[in-house]
Amino acid sequence: MDELLSVSVGGAFVGGDRPVLRENIDDLSKMVEEADVLLREKGRDDVEGFGWINLPYQDLSETIEIGRWLSGFEAIVQIGIGGSALGNRMLAKALLPPFYNELDASVRKAPKFYLLENPDPKTALSLLDRLDLSKIAFVVVSKSGSTTETAAHFLWVWQKVREKIGERARDNFLIITDPRKGILRKFAKSTGCRSLNIPESVGGRYSVLSSVGLATASALGINIEKLVQGAKEMDQRLALRSHLWENPAWLLACINLLHTKAGRNMAVMMPYGDDLADFAEWFAQLWGESLGKEGCGTTPVRALGAIDQHSQLQLYAEGPDDKLITIIDVKNRPLFLLPDVVDIEALKDLEFLYGKALGDLLSIEARSTASALIKAGKPVIYLNIPEVSERYIGALVFFYEYVTALVGFLMKINPFDQPGVEQGKRYIYSLMGRRGYEEYVKEVEEYFGACQKTEIII
Ligand code: PA5
Repeated sequence: MDELLSVSVGGAFVGGDRPVLRENIDDLSKMVEEADVLLREKGRDDVEGFGWINLPYQDLSETIEIGRWLSGFEAIVQIGIGGSALGNRMLAKALLPPFYNELDASVRKAPKFYLLENPDPKTALSLLDRLDLSKIAFVVVSKSGSTTETAAHFLWVWQKVREKIGERARDNFLIITDPRKGILRKFAKSTGCRSLNIPESVGGRYSVLSSVGLATASALGINIEKLVQGAKEMDQRLALRSHLWENPAWLLACINLLHTKAGRNMAVMMPYGDDLADFAEWFAQLWGESLGKEGCGTTPVRALGAIDQHSQLQLYAEGPDDKLITIIDVKNRPLFLLPDVVDIEALKDLEFLYGKALGDLLSIEARSTASALIKAGKPVIYLNIPEVSERYIGALVFFYEYVTALVGFLMKINPFDQPGVEQGKRYIYSLMGRRGYEEYVKEVEEYFGACQKTEIII
């Protein structure tokens, strides 16, 4: 059987005054097994929050059909935030060619792709100023259907497109939201514009393998069947691994828990290669929002190899021992060879680079970083994927969703809710004057008042 990923955990065990040892892992064997049973049982029953585990088995025909329709536009602008955008960003960065939007249309063979996430007027204005609104598909994604940032962008764009092409505006919009609830569902019904469902049991940050991530991915030429196939293979292989030391998801969950208990309160995610930069971004939301509650959780830190070797590595190696560092390496990268010989005497000292492959350099850097950290006594997980392509990204995504959920259960918290996020959303509604949220205005005044108590102006 060919591999989907490999995980080396030898560097994750450390001695010293806050040790995490192999034998500590064995003590968690029963707990993680029970957590796994819970995850699979509730997944099977499609309990709220657990539905992502069934996404590898979904019927993709409707999403592919919508993708085909979307692919006829000049550009796609996806409006969404958090789980309704980060997965798309991650897939596009990993699976589309670099500088995708700059490619000639004949090379690209699919629409340009933009995301409107932050309600920053500078970004919104300059993006929409350069687009012919009548030729753009707007994909509005929100599970709740009312997240303020998304709603604000949507309102603005909808009005602009209407001013330009009148009632035909609805033919440029795709709504991706809850099947029954929320303002966007109501809007889709009343205007008759196209829509896709986000399964009720799937939460925002676990939704990349649902219509949320897949509709635009499909339109951009990403093979979503392979993506989902990779996730399915990962699911099936994990299900067969019933021993702790054979199941990489169980192992990583236990290792994470032990390091958290040992006081390492940061989880650094450091993939090597630009195409995985947004994987760290996606992971940060998944990890942070799923585990950060009831005083639990570790702070996800996004890093990128090799760039952060020249920025953060000093801190990771010799700073406080408060991090568990995951390095992701890729076995096969595109071939890019440096010149065999450079005929200039002054460059002779660079002959160690002659004829070398740039991709090999990245992997050597990943291994060197792991070694330097281990030498410094810092815990490291080294994960390798065969290549950055649909199948392996699908497998990697599912793997990390699985690990995150297990860590949540081991910490005895619910990895599928986000009360802190909801609180923030209520405060925004109240300050923006949304009906029904008046009671929170006073709270914000009180807390923000406390924040402003000590203000220094210069
Ligand atoms: O994971 C989550 O639930 C959140 O981060 C959401 O994805 C984010 O707040 C956006 O919510 P919505 O999709 O409802 O607009």
